[in-house]
Amino acid sequence: MAERRRPPFYTNSNLMLPILLTLTLAAVGVPAVLWFGIAGLAVALSLSSGAVVFLVLRSQRGVARRLAWDARANRELQRRHFQQTEALLSVFAVLQPRAPLPQTREKFAASPDFLRVVLTEVLTTRPSLVVEASCGLSTLIIAGALKQLGAGRVVSMEHDVFYAEQTRSLLRVHGLDGFATVVHAPLVPFTLEVAAFDRHDWQWYDVSRLRLEQSIDLLIIDGPPSTLQPFARFPALPILWNSLRAGARIILDDGDRPDERAAVAAWCGQFPELSSDFLDLEKGAFVLSRTSPATNHLNRG
Ligand SMILES: C[S@@+](CC[C@H](N)C(=O)[O-])C[C@H]1O[C@@H](n2cnc3c(N)ncnc32)[C@H](O)[C@@H]1O
Repeated sequence: MAERRRPPFYTNSNLMLPILLTLTLAAVGVPAVLWFGIAGLAVALSLSSGAVVFLVLRSQRGVARRLAWDARANRELQRRHFQQTEALLSVFAVLQPRAPLPQTREKFAASPDFLRVVLTEVLTTRPSLVVEASCGLSTLIIAGALKQLGAGRVVSMEHDVFYAEQTRSLLRVHGLDGFATVVHAPLVPFTLEVAAFDRHDWQWYDVSRLRLEQSIDLLIIDGPPSTLQPFARFPALPILWNSLRAGARIILDDGDRPDERAAVAAWCGQFPELSSDFLDLEKGAFVLSRTSPATNHLNRG
């Protein structure tokens, strides 16, 4: 079984053992030579050679263990990189963008496997209205999918004016501005009564700027940044719940983070109509469905 922590080349005992052996051999060898002369010297030399061979073999074992660990880690890394490349290739193959797309997988950008999930979701469920919390490459992918379907619209909230304008410009370059609107929505205070977090004061996008005229079919949550507040993305569902149609789907990125996991647990506690699935993606993700009360009743037997 793979060791979880990278084993060191040398442990403290690897370093202490030669010192102890040298001291012991000196303590035994010197009197032996004095008492038994040449015979004592021969015994002392044999013991020393044996000790050296033992120490070399022992340290080789440590090196071999470390190299095996590195090789395993390297294979796993290559497997993950390849998975992301495959996901990116399939997104590009489906959308065939007419200009270069921004980088994926950076600190702030979504990973290819997440984008593939979003693309597949849009193409298979054909949402009429997609709302996004934070814009970027994901907005381009959703708008590209809607353009292929020939219907639907994505409205993306973004608190950062610069980033909002950058995404609008990319949408224009890709000929997707007819299917997407980036709304500059600053982060404003909200009061939410949340037993799960024992907290009332939150910040979230100023949703009054959304001006929604229909209910949301698909909600993608990839913002605001986690540095804003603990459980930064939690307010999404309490604030937008009444705008989600029955049967709406919600996709949350960064599902591997404890805050996102806690937010999903709190949502499921607050809204019994929600069901959630975890996707084992590079950064983890949750896909949630708002079932209608009747379906929910049937599902729960
Ligand atoms: C996780 S990112 C959104 C990524 C987006 N869904 C995508 O697929 O590209 C969340 C927020 O990070 C901020 N952001 C994105 N790129 C940034 C950058 N290079 N530097 C600083 N902030 C950035 C934006 O304000 C964005 O709303």
